Amino acid sequence: MPPGSLNLRRIALLALTPLILAAQAQPPPPGPKPLVPPESIKPGGFVGSQVCRTCHPVETSNFFKNPHNKSLVNASLEPSQQGCESCHGPGQKHIEAHGGKATIRAFSVLEPKQILDTCLTCHGQTMSRANIRRSNHTTADVVCTSCHSIHKSPTPKALLAKRQTELCYTCHTDVRAQFSMPFKHRVNEGFMNCSDCHNPHGGSPPTWRTASRPHMMDLGLGNEEPCLKCHVDKRGPFVFEHAAVRVDGCESCHQPHGSANARLLRTPTTFATCLQCHNGAGSGRTGKGVPLQTPGHNLADPRFHNCTSCHIRVHGSNADQYFLR
Ligand code: HEC
Ligand code: HEC
Ligand code: HEC
Ligand code: HEC
Ligand code: HEC
Ligand code: HEC
Ligand code: HEC
Ligand code: HEC
Ligand code: HEC
Ligand code: HEC
Repeated sequence: MPPGSLNLRRIALLALTPLILAAQAQPPPPGPKPLVPPESIKPGGFVGSQVCRTCHPVETSNFFKNPHNKSLVNASLEPSQQGCESCHGPGQKHIEAHGGKATIRAFSVLEPKQILDTCLTCHGQTMSRANIRRSNHTTADVVCTSCHSIHKSPTPKALLAKRQTELCYTCHTDVRAQFSMPFKHRVNEGFMNCSDCHNPHGGSPPTWRTASRPHMMDLGLGNEEPCLKCHVDKRGPFVFEHAAVRVDGCESCHQPHGSANARLLRTPTTFATCLQCHNGAGSGRTGKGVPLQTPGHNLADPRFHNCTSCHIRVHGSNADQYFLR
């Protein structure tokens, strides 16, 4: 062995000696290494999402697919807005206790109102949920997690807990039967969704309907009925509007889900639908009242029973006051 290399080894050993001594003088603290070094805990007790992986590998490893993953990778956000802790709250106590439901915001034990408040810290501003606090669902304690599943959603869109129609039917069992009527919108067949007409997050009382029964209609079209998204020919405006359509709304003559009657009408015959209003009751022929058909209408004559055989533009007309063309 050449002497030069021996010298080098001696020098290296000498240089390391103080470190070795220091290490011997200060043994590592007893017990396991803390999961999160104290200096990286943020004010408020936020520990970051990395550490959650240790004990919750399933939730963590699936999270990259989640729309909320964006916050996990966005370092410019406040710690309270980032990753797991944006919903579950600060994790410090939870980590120190090595788990437990009482040490973190565990949705399985939260009150509906607490769940709502958690989600609305971020989702409260958007238009479609502006009325969520007074929606029929919220007042009945049906909140975000009744319909959405953050970690186990089977749907690619909107993190629903189930496919939409099945989700709604879990509670609205009677509605399934309505969509199985002889005449119906093909919701059960998958051509349409409940949310084509309803906003499950609530809607404001619409002005197109004088009787204020909102039924959580989708107001994506402003004050227009959602029906007009698809039935555009009924939209108008028409030179001659039929007040029944414009003021009372489509459901004054149609059953929106399904019906035993053709054209989803509320009554088996057309004239019965018309005579709900055009029946001579009320305040007279014109003006405020509903006009009564002229004496020439002989209701004993079957020809007059199908009112729409003459009044073919019953949804509104650009050519005739009486909707005859
Ligand atoms: C957008 C809000 C949100 C974020 C972000 C979030 N969670 Fe959750 N977490 C929930 C909700 C809500 C539940 C209740 C179950 C459900 O609805 O899916 C839950 C449930 C859990 C559960 C219990 C699982 C069970 O089956 O009961 C664990 C564990 C969990 N989350 C860990 C995490 C971890 C780890 C992260 C980060 C990778 C995370 N969560 C991010 C909202 C969130
Ligand atoms: C040292 C292991 C450990 C670490 C690290 C850890 N947890 Fe937990 N966590 C647990 C245990 C154990 C439970 C209790 C499970 C039970 O009681 O069913 C739990 C429960 C939870 C629950 C309650 C689930 C429910 O029932 O609703 C949530 C939410 C949760 N953890 C989120 C997190 C988040 C977020 C992090 C990261 C900041 C994290 N955990 C880090 C061990 C851990
Ligand atoms: C009664 C069931 C139900 C409840 C309760 C509910 N949602 Fe939804 N949510 C849905 C359905 C269904 C969709 C999908 C709508 C679609 O496909 O057009 C959706 C879509 C969404 C979307 C994505 C589309 C959008 O409108 O931006 C977000 C975000 C959302 N919900 C958040 C929430 C939050 C936050 C809460 C609680 C404050 C909540 N939801 C409560 C059923 C519900
Ligand atoms: C820290 C803020 C924050 C919190 C808290 C939060 N979200 Fe979100 N959420 C977001 C962001 C950001 C997106 C992504 C929006 C986008 O992609 O445009 C999102 C998207 C969604 C979507 C839409 C998914 C899609 O496919 O369009 C749903 C549904 C949703 N969140 C539900 C919830 C529920 C339920 C809660 C409560 C358990 C919740 N969020 C809590 C920020 C948050
Ligand atoms: C967890 C149960 C539950 C789920 C899931 C649910 N609902 Fe509801 N829904 C209710 C309750 C409870 C009410 C309030 C009581 C009532 O009016 O029947 C309600 C009310 C409504 C109303 C208003 C009824 C009225 O008389 O004005 C509509 C519309 C509605 N839900 C549609 C939906 C749609 C669409 C879905 C699926 C996206 C859905 N619901 C999912 C429980 C649920
Ligand atoms: C074609 C549009 C449309 C579709 C699709 C639709 N609804 Fe409706 N729904 C309405 C209208 C309009 C009303 C109000 C009816 C009235 O005023 O008589 C209503 C009323 C309701 C009501 C309250 C009255 C009742 O009958 O109990 C519930 C609950 C409801 N819908 C649930 C659903 C569910 C669940 C789905 C999907 C499976 C769905 N709706 C799909 C238009 C629709
Ligand atoms: C998402 C699009 C869509 C929306 C929204 C919609 N419909 Fe329809 N509607 C259809 C389609 C498509 C048909 C054809 C019937 C089928 O699906 O078999 C139809 C059929 C009808 C029929 C029967 C037509 C016939 O020839 O028998 C009536 C009446 C009707 N809709 C009224 C309404 C009313 C009222 C609303 C609002 C409460 C509405 N629709 C909302 C798509 C829609
Ligand atoms: C005054 C009662 C009344 C109102 C209100 C009404 N309809 Fe109708 N609708 C009818 C009658 C009656 C028929 C059947 C016409 C026939 O026998 O040819 C019909 C037929 C239909 C049809 C199928 C035939 C066609 O013309 O396309 C659709 C779709 C329809 N209505 C949609 C709507 C929509 C959407 C609204 C609301 C904007 C609405 N209706 C409001 C009475 C009404
Ligand atoms: C919900 C109540 C209602 C129903 C149902 C209804 N109408 Fe009307 N109808 C009205 C009102 C209100 C007016 C307008 C009164 C006014 O402008 O002074 C009107 C106007 C008319 C007019 C024009 C009268 C004029 O002098 O300009 C005709 C024609 C008419 N309706 C035919 C029908 C037919 C046919 C049906 C059945 C398919 C029908 N209506 C169903 C309420 C209704
Ligand atoms: C054979 C064709 C025909 C049938 C069927 C028919 N109408 Fe008419 N209706 C007319 C004509 C034409 C007018 C125009 C005024 C007149 O000449 O009487 C009219 C006018 C009206 C008016 C307006 C009256 C006014 O003075 O403002 C109403 C309301 C009306 N019809 C309702 C109905 C109802 C409801 C039915 C079904 C029970 C019906 N019509 C069936 C041809 C018909």
